[in-house]
Amino acid sequence: MSEPEHELAFNQWIIAGVRDIRVAVRPTTGASNAMKIQLSAVVIALSCCLASEVVSADPKSELREDQADFVHGAPESESDSWLLAAGGRIYDNWWHALDREKPTSMHPAYPATGKQSGANTWRCKECHGWDYRGRDGKYASGSHFTGIKGIEAAKGDDPAAIAKMLRGAPHGYPATMITDKELARVAAFVSRGQDETAKFVDVKTGNVKGDVKHGEAIFQTTCAACHGFDGRLLNRGDKDAPAYVGTDANAAPDEVLHKIRNSHPGAAMISLRAFPIEDAADVLAYAKTLPQK
Ligand code: HEC
Ligand code: HEC
Repeated sequence: MSEPEHELAFNQWIIAGVRDIRVAVRPTTGASNAMKIQLSAVVIALSCCLASEVVSADPKSELREDQADFVHGAPESESDSWLLAAGGRIYDNWWHALDREKPTSMHPAYPATGKQSGANTWRCKECHGWDYRGRDGKYASGSHFTGIKGIEAAKGDDPAAIAKMLRGAPHGYPATMITDKELARVAAFVSRGQDETAKFVDVKTGNVKGDVKHGEAIFQTTCAACHGFDGRLLNRGDKDAPAYVGTDANAAPDEVLHKIRNSHPGAAMISLRAFPIEDAADVLAYAKTLPQK
């Protein structure tokens, strides 16, 4: 066990111990001898606990490694918001989301006329789009055009049926890429997690419907912790061609809305999934006003 974890467990014992003493002391108005004896018993018991804690920690107060892994771990009891965001990250890029090897071949269902190649052809978003509308949305033309339809029609479908479909043709995702448990997450996302992106983002013009002032308040109090107040603290590009929050929000607002709602696969980034979609759209509208270079 590493030093800081041990300290934390030890402090928790002390806090719990102090609470025990308070409970024991409270009814001692007009303290009877019996009560005093009880109190000393608690103190003795407490010192024993503290002493034994040095040797072996209570397993309940130990930090479990998977519970501490925000990026690739999972909470013991999964809230719906967590589940849908985790599914959204698999939809975005499952090997980064799940810490897997990326595929070396092309996806067999990716059309020969498509402009993309390699592992990217295995990303759900590559065939179905950031707006979930495939050929009827932003990917109706351009370098991501495949002619494949979106996944909107699968909204409300049984997640078990969606998961089963993803194992067969034309998808063929084996368990070595996405396990059953993980497939259930992306199926839940397809069934219940698709946002109505088209309501907030006009993919033809890039215009975003959102309250810039409210978005500014959210950005400055949450996103800025990692991205800086002007969104230029993290650069996903390079010095000559920077990719800041402002750059991405203007180049691909539908993609950035997906990231705000589900987080960025493989990154210790927050998601706004537990909040109304309008909050995410407001942040996006503000992000578009940030410097692009
Ligand atoms: C290489 C391209 C490709 C990739 C990658 C891909 N799909 Fe598909 N998907 C298809 C094709 C082709 C269809 C069948 C479309 C049709 O029937 O016209 C389809 C159909 C679907 C449907 C059914 C849509 C409907 O209208 O009922 C869902 C849901 C779906 N895919 C989800 C996913 C998910 C989730 C992933 C990632 C885990 C994924 N797809 C990855 C090509 C792809
Ligand atoms: C706890 C830190 C943290 C917070 C808070 C955070 N992010 Fe991120 N974000 C990251 C990291 C890390 C990356 C990945 C950077 C990289 O790969 O270089 C990232 C990536 C991004 C990207 C780039 C994804 C892409 O490919 O286009 C965008 C856009 C983004 N964040 C927007 C936001 C917005 C908006 C908020 C507030 C709602 C936010 N982030 C809050 C850490 C954070």
